[in-house]
Formats: sequence, structure tokens, C-alpha cells
Amino acid sequence: MLRSGACQFLVLLLLVFGGDTRKAKPNIVIVVADDMGYTDAGFHGGDQIPTPHIDKLAHEGIILDNYYTAMICTPSRAALLTGRHPMQLGLQHGVVGATTPFGLGLNETLLPQYLKKYGYVTHMIGKWHLGSFKLVYTPTKRGFDTHLGFWNGKTDYFTHMNRGRGNASKIIGLDFWENFKVAREYNGSYGTELFGNRAVDLIMRHDQSKPFFLYLPHQAVHAGIAPQPLKAPQEYLDRFKFIQHDGRRRYAAMLSVLDDSIGNLTAALKKSGMYENTILIFTTDNGGPADGVSHNYASNWPLRGCKRTNWEGGVRAVSFIHSLLLKNPGTISHHLMHISDWLPTIMTAIGEKLPSNIDYYGVDQWPSIQFNAPSARNEIMHNYDDGAGAIRYGDYKLVICCTINKNGWYPEEHFYIGDNQKPYIQCGERNSSLPSCTSADKYCLFDIASDPCEYNNIAFLKPDLAEKLYNKLMTFADAAQPPRDKPSDPDSYPDLHNGHWTDWLDKHPIF
Ligand SMILES: *[C@@H]1O[C@H](CO)[C@@H](O)[C@H](O)[C@H]1NC(C)=O
Ligand SMILES: *[C@@H]1O[C@H](CO)[C@@H](O)[C@H](O)[C@H]1NC(C)=O
Ligand SMILES: *[C@@H]1O[C@H](CO)[C@@H](O)[C@H](O)[C@H]1NC(C)=O
Ligand SMILES: *[C@@H]1O[C@H](CO)[C@@H](O)[C@H](O)[C@H]1NC(C)=O
Ligand SMILES: *[C@@H]1O[C@H](CO)[C@@H](O)[C@H](O)[C@H]1NC(C)=O
Repeated sequence: MLRSGACQFLVLLLLVFGGDTRKAKPNIVIVVADDMGYTDAGFHGGDQIPTPHIDKLAHEGIILDNYYTAMICTPSRAALLTGRHPMQLGLQHGVVGATTPFGLGLNETLLPQYLKKYGYVTHMIGKWHLGSFKLVYTPTKRGFDTHLGFWNGKTDYFTHMNRGRGNASKIIGLDFWENFKVAREYNGSYGTELFGNRAVDLIMRHDQSKPFFLYLPHQAVHAGIAPQPLKAPQEYLDRFKFIQHDGRRRYAAMLSVLDDSIGNLTAALKKSGMYENTILIFTTDNGGPADGVSHNYASNWPLRGCKRTNWEGGVRAVSFIHSLLLKNPGTISHHLMHISDWLPTIMTAIGEKLPSNIDYYGVDQWPSIQFNAPSARNEIMHNYDDGAGAIRYGDYKLVICCTINKNGWYPEEHFYIGDNQKPYIQCGERNSSLPSCTSADKYCLFDIASDPCEYNNIAFLKPDLAEKLYNKLMTFADAAQPPRDKPSDPDSYPDLHNGHWTDWLDKHPIF
């Protein structure tokens, strides 16, 4: 009796002074900026497009300075939500298209599914891009209580219509959903504002007896569809009249809307009283598409390459974490981190454990974030696909060149950085007597710590290291799940389904 009384007292003490696990679980908000360039964040030195709201959160939180994603949308989102590597998922090759019947394997468990186990309400607003040819692949079948947004990679910012690609590029239809309902009533509402306002709404209406999870993969600043992929409300376009280049001006306007919507989101968290117990994660999905790649004009300068390449400009990404629960706010973390690390990191942050029977590529970075402990990883397998790839090991990076013909530094004039502003990334010296890196080379080696701009291929100076990294990369590649990509299927076309894209391979697609 006495013993159990003492025991109860102890439990009471724990409850009162307690272990993290007994406190109300923190709310988790993940904002994904689509296709935002490394240098377009004000906190990375870009001063052409003010991003005050994003910068404020970054400066008050922890800026993740050595943070990597995949080079394109689908693999990054898959890694973020599963903690697994795109090559383990068969998603290392291309993105899911509106007409291509593949997606994230149904045997994978997603972050919202884990969080639901611990009582979270789970919302998604925005872009999915992990498969929708059958309903079982879509957000509200995969752990999200609610979803407003689109299932594929892009839509027009106002009409929310999407086009097929390649042969199907003339095929057009609505891709906009409220859970499983075709959402026609948002025609004319600008995507970024619509999503931002919905986020505010969900926060203000949230029943705070339960922890809140919001996954907010924004449409911005990805291009929409032809004939004008880069659209923004006129008042935002007017802010950037000083930018000569039409595409760049439009991109700037799109980013500015995103930044304002982050301001609204922050204000809503404060107003609702949820701010104190929220962990906000901001990440891009890949490097910025520069110089017309993906119809867009981001800047990663002075990093090499851009979206769709394994160069730093394609995979070194904008990210920070913000929370009043952080022990070292206002700092910059230089620890190596990969987008797949978020899932295990979040689990530790909420005081829970992952199942031990799944081979996660992501590692728990909470100790590194909270206590500045060394990174839990020394290596990042960037990707290997179609004979091109890259792997990071310590300070070094092995590159097997190249995925697309964008292997320089963009934009060529660095007018996206203010004249008086030092770039955030300090390139090392360029040694013109070293060989360049082309697809004729078996591989190239760069010392990213001293040469973040990938000027100097030092493979011949460190042949043993280069060979070791090549073997590591090949071993990982040999174990990869083969790409799940499928050819385009004309049965997907919207003219067969009441003018919208749908779950066309189900017995009774939504019509
Ligand atoms: C799901 O199945 C695929 C093979 O189809 C496999 O490669 C993958 O590792 C499995 N995922 C999990 C979490 O076991
Ligand atoms: C595009 O159409 C042509 C001609 O109909 C066909 O031969 C080709 O296979 C199609 N390509 C794709 C990717 O569907
Ligand atoms: C959206 O509105 C535009 C302009 O009013 C119209 O042309 C278009 O058909 C509408 N789209 C849908 C899917 O209703
Ligand atoms: C910010 O909130 C205001 C007030 O609700 C709203 O009118 C505006 O559209 C929002 N801005 C963005 C960019 O979402
Ligand atoms: C440039 O590379 C060459 C060849 O490896 C080397 O001999 C030389 O010292 C390097 N120059 C500088 C400035 O590092």
C-alpha cells in the first residue's frame, strides 16, 4: 500500500515537473516552398526579393546551413513523409505526371500516419505529387484527416487547371480537391493566398485539446501551366516593376505572396495561442529552377547547377526550424542534414519512437538541433539514376556527371544579389589548371567545405578516396528499388472524366 502510494507520488511528480512525454505534444507545422532558389531567401543574402516574414522566423529559429533535399519534387516529398531514401522507394527517377500511373508504394508508412497514433489531428493543404491514379494513393487515404489542394505537380495559379506533359501537353483539366470532392468553387482564387488563408482558418478553428499537424506544401513558387506559367496578383507584380526580366519579375511577385502568407500563418499561430507549443519547419523541395529550367527564374548563385541536377544548386536547400521550444534559438547549424531526417527528428521531438523493423534512411537530428551535438550523419547519398549521380561523404562529394545540360552557375550575371551584399556562400579559389567535370569523366571529386561552388575537380589528387566513394555509391545503387515510373496512359485524360483529372484506374473513378 505504502509502496504504491509512493509510486503514485512519483508519478504525480513526473506529471508536474515532468518528462517531455507527459507534456502536451507540440504542434507540428511543415511549410514546403516549391522550387525556391537558395539565394532567393533574404536570410541567404538575396536582397532583390524581400522575404521579411520568412527571414524573421529563420533568424529567430535555427538556420540549417548544410541541409540537402532531392533534386526534384516527388522524391523529396516522398523522403520527407516517409524518412526513407527515394532510391529505397523507387522514386529516384522522375516526378509523377498527371497521366502516369505510379506513386509512393502503399507499403510505406507516412508521417501523418505515425502522428495520428499519438493523437494528432492531421491536415494537408497544397500539392501532393505522390500518386493519384487510384484513391488509395491520395492524401486522405494516407494519414491526412483533410486535404485542400491538388494531386499532381502543378496547376494554374488561378484556374487550378493542369496539363499533361509531352504528347499530352494539350490535354488540360481541373486538378483541385477538397478531400475527395472536385473543388470547382475556387476558380479565380490565387493558390498561395487560398492555401495560406485555409491554414489560418484551420489554426483558428483547431480544438487545442489535441495536438495539431499541418503539412503545407505550397504551390509557390513552382511554375503553373502554359501559356503563362508564372502568375501573381497584379498588386504583387507591381511591387517588382524595377526588375527588367519578365520571368524573374513574375517569380519575385510569386515569392512575395508566399512570404506574406507566412506572415499571416505566424500571426494566426500567435493569435490562437498555439505559437508557444509549435515546431515550425520550413524547407524547399529542391534547388531553384534557374535560367528557364521548369519555366522558372530562381537563383542559387553562386552555387553550381539548379533544380534537376546533383550539383549543390540542385540539392542544397533553404531550410530552418522555428520554435519557442528550441534551446539554441537564433543560431545557424552547420551540421549535415538530409530531408529524410525530419521524420525521425520529429518523432524524437514529440517524445516518441519509430518502429524498429523499417529501414529508414533518415536519422534523428534532434540532438544536433537541440544541443548542437554532432550530426547523426556523415554521408548523404544524393542520387543515382540513368548513369548520373552524386554522394557526399564528410567534406567531400563525388559527382558522376550529369543529368541535364545545366552545369554552370546561374544566373550568369549575379544581379540577383545586391551590389553591396556579400553572398552568403563564400566560394573558394578557382584553380583553372584542374580538369573540369564532364560526362566523359568516370567521376569527379569536390571538397564542398572549401569549394562549395564546385569549381575544382580534385578526383585525380585523391584517387583512393574517389574510388571509395564511387564504390559506396554503387553499393547503394545496387540495393535500390527499381524506378516505379510508368509510361503515360491516355485513359487518364480529363475529357473522359467530366473535365478533371481523377483516380482513373479505380473501378469507379470520381466523375
Ligand atoms: C515496400 O515494398 C518494396 C518492394 O516492392 C520494397 O522495396 C520496400 O522496401 C518496401 N517498403 C517497406 C517499408 O518495407
Ligand atoms: C507520343 O506519340 C507518338 C505518336 O503517337 C508515339 O509514338 C509515342 O510513343 C508517344 N510518346 C509517349 C511518351 O507517349
Ligand atoms: C474558371 O473561370 C474561367 C474564367 O471565368 C473560365 O473560363 C473557366 O472555364 C473556369 N474553369 C473552370 C474549371 O470552371
Ligand atoms: C493575409 O491575410 C489577409 C487577411 O485575412 C488576407 O486578405 C490576405 O489574402 C492574406 N495574404 C496572403 C498572401 O495570403
Ligand atoms: C592548382 O592545381 C595544380 C594542379 O594540381 C596545383 O599544382 C596548384 O598548386 C594549384 N594551385 C593553387 C593556387 O591551388
